[in-house]
Amino acid sequence: MSTVVVIGAQWGDEGKGKVTDFLARGADIVVRYQGGNNAGHTVVADGQEYKLHLIPSGILHPEKLCLIGNGVVLDPEVFIGEVEGLSARGISTSNLKISPRAHVIMPYHLRIDACDEERRGANRIGTTGRGIGPAYADKAARAGIRVADLIDPESLAERLKIALEEKNAILTKLYGSQAFDFEAVYGTYKKYGERLAPFVSDVSILINEAIREGKNILFEGAQGTLLDIDHGTYPYVTSSHPVAGAACLGSGVGPTKIDKVIGVAKAYITRVGEGPFPTELKDETGERLRRRGHEFGTTTGRPRRCGWFDAVIARYAARINGLDYLAVTKLDVLTGLDRIKICTAYSYGGETVEEFPATLKVLSRCRPVYEEVPGWTEDISTVRKIEDLPVNAQNYLRRISQLSGVPLALAGVGPGRDQTLVIKELY
Ligand code: GDP
Ligand code: IMO
Ligand code: MG
Repeated sequence: MSTVVVIGAQWGDEGKGKVTDFLARGADIVVRYQGGNNAGHTVVADGQEYKLHLIPSGILHPEKLCLIGNGVVLDPEVFIGEVEGLSARGISTSNLKISPRAHVIMPYHLRIDACDEERRGANRIGTTGRGIGPAYADKAARAGIRVADLIDPESLAERLKIALEEKNAILTKLYGSQAFDFEAVYGTYKKYGERLAPFVSDVSILINEAIREGKNILFEGAQGTLLDIDHGTYPYVTSSHPVAGAACLGSGVGPTKIDKVIGVAKAYITRVGEGPFPTELKDETGERLRRRGHEFGTTTGRPRRCGWFDAVIARYAARINGLDYLAVTKLDVLTGLDRIKICTAYSYGGETVEEFPATLKVLSRCRPVYEEVPGWTEDISTVRKIEDLPVNAQNYLRRISQLSGVPLALAGVGPGRDQTLVIKELY
């Protein structure tokens, strides 16, 4: 039996979808435990590209059970669209279950997300506009609607009435926006509830039973460590916990049941949305990484900001998540660079900073301290064994693993399933 948590070790979009799909071969169950359809996980299987927002990246393996845990915020319209999109491409969702405890993203959450961003003006977070923050805010404020309510017309009516009283006041009085009509929302969401009902099952029971039976479970994180609401670059973060500890909370599994944690990191680094980014490249090299790496958001299509690999962030992610292994993706994107820089520490007011700072004030004044290593020019996209990589590429991987203090398990040389080098078998 093995339970493995896959998390993003940077600001999201590290390639968690690809790594999850790859590791899912050895798993019986794949679980999403936080976030919502702010996530965009791309999986390329047999030359076909799939963009998954809510459904676990194990779904392309028909025999695996895919679960959406209580820690996820679920937009029913998006969920239904994703199920239909997959079935139109011949992918079955008969093995997909949703926790009744997951919270529902309602239309007023989307509207409030947009109004909040507009109000913030220059201080906007650059959210994905999917209603994620307002849905988690309602959960914490005990004003949310859960999947269990959505599928029970009586509970839905009760919870929606309470919610709309507050939301309509906020929308009309604070934002000068339109109120939502109870009957219209109720009618639509009651129908969504009917569609969702067959998928609802107690995810915590399913996972714990499977663990007792010695099965292999894979937990798929969304977003990344630096977008964590506690451990990330607050307030430029998401409203959930993308870190490994949340796999337990977001699925109803005790911490004693987790065996391994894998951090996914790009061989460089990207960020979408606002907030400080010490190794950001605003020059030709950054543009090159964006072009070669196709660094445009899976969810919003926004260009991703690109920069050099940051070992301060990698060490921080190792500590916060208790990383056992690293999966380094997109090594192929660095091909053709004469020299590659790695940030080993920050310089702040003449001092060397080794640990990731807690405040944006300090972080925004940190300058990266770089070490330069030689690049390689050979095409590595067809390489399948680490020892067949050009020596400089091998050295680069070795160096980032050493600076991060985490051994390497996987390395990616392309988006395809087979473009993965296995350094350590995890199942
Ligand atoms: P996620 O949100 O962490 O799942 O990552 P995204 O799917 O948003 O972004 C990662 C992108 O990189 C996707 O388009 C993947 O297909 C692609 N990708 C993943 N691994 C590799 C790799 O090793 N090399 C290349 N060139 N692309 C990769
Ligand atoms: P995956 O799972 C990258 C970012 C947004 C914004 C901030 C808050 O694909 O790695 P939100 O809509 O969550 O309130 O936005 O978080 N963000 C992501 N960035 N990858 C993601 O998911 C992200 N999900 C949210 O760009 O800066
Ligand atoms: Mg993504």
